[in-house]
Amino acid sequence: MKVLIIGGTGNISRGIVAALLNRNHEVVMFNRGQHPDPPPPDIQIIHGDRRDRDAFESRMHSEKFDAVIDMISYNADDATSALRAFRGRVDAFIHCSTVMTYGPPFPFSGVNIPETAPLNGTSDYGRGKIAADKLLLEAHAEDGFPVTIFKPSYTHGPGMQVHRQVGGDGSWIDRLRKGKPILSAGDGLNYFQFLSSRDAGVGFAEALGRSECLGQVYNIVHPQARTWDEWHHTVAQALGVEAEIVHVPQETLIAIASERFQGLRGNFGHTQIYTGTKLAGDIPEFQPETPPVESVADNIAWMDKHNRVPDSDADDLEDRIIEAVRNLPNHLH
Ligand SMILES: NC(=O)c1ccc[n+]([C@@H]2O[C@H](COP(=O)([O-])OP(=O)(O)OC[C@H]3O[C@@H](n4cnc5c(N)ncnc54)[C@H](OP(=O)(O)O)[C@@H]3O)[C@@H](O)[C@H]2O)c1
Repeated sequence: MKVLIIGGTGNISRGIVAALLNRNHEVVMFNRGQHPDPPPPDIQIIHGDRRDRDAFESRMHSEKFDAVIDMISYNADDATSALRAFRGRVDAFIHCSTVMTYGPPFPFSGVNIPETAPLNGTSDYGRGKIAADKLLLEAHAEDGFPVTIFKPSYTHGPGMQVHRQVGGDGSWIDRLRKGKPILSAGDGLNYFQFLSSRDAGVGFAEALGRSECLGQVYNIVHPQARTWDEWHHTVAQALGVEAEIVHVPQETLIAIASERFQGLRGNFGHTQIYTGTKLAGDIPEFQPETPPVESVADNIAWMDKHNRVPDSDADDLEDRIIEAVRNLPNHLH
């Protein structure tokens, strides 16, 4: 198949591109050419900004693709433009959404959360994705627009920084390297799902050509949930160090620096396990097998290459919080 990927050089995108090439698809990328990594050789690249609607849509009308994978559609305007560009012109259209579309008003926790769970974006990001998903599913209901929606949880691998539970930039990698303790929220035992972008790519690529996937929404997650502290230890293992973890209640962290720790009010602060049963049923080839430590090592190598590991000595807030928490019992005696 001739497959267009809108994006293509990002984190999940590169896993998808690798999986498409492995399956001998002809891959074309559409992006602005700003991402620091060169794309794989022998790929056609169309440079442009998808938010430059007229230019994007008229360029797409001058091309012919069998399938499109849209990785950078974040709201109703993006989806409407994609419909103008591809409606009636492709056999498959995969839209990348997110699990951040689910939930009662936050905070919430849940296990085995299915695709039929209530939608309730708790951020502009989640609400924008809900609006885009809705328009595309309506187009499927109206005239069979061949959309398939994927909702990833956290994916890791080259192309972006390695996240941790309390958020912030990549300086926690520097902390681990320097043997400094790191913060974790609550008791570190909240469960989450951590999927390698390499494995995610297989799910996206294998959906192409399957009529049963059209008009469907799939969570795409690692089937084995892990605690955040397991994750922090996995990252330390990838660095060849031991992680010393200091636990602090998340409400305390938010009270100390609400902007810095606000992600804890969203899905990083609570157990949220999404079921991938539907995807496993329709796409049995999706069987995450990349060892997390291997994907994380690649991810950190990418961060090092692109100077995405800031010096942790430049900001002492984490040290001050840890010192205060460790001294708390002395204050109370
Ligand atoms: N990673 C996760 O944990 C996670 C979880 C849930 C959902 N998602 C979803 O995954 C998608 C992101 O995928 P990704 O990780 O592959 O992407 P990414 O890392 O965000 O990279 C974005 C890609 O799109 C291109 N791009 C960005 N803005 C553009 C524009 N205006 N016009 C044309 N090209 C543009 C970039 O290249 P240029 O900069 O050169 O244009 C790059 O190729 C998003 O839809 C996100 O909601 C990710």
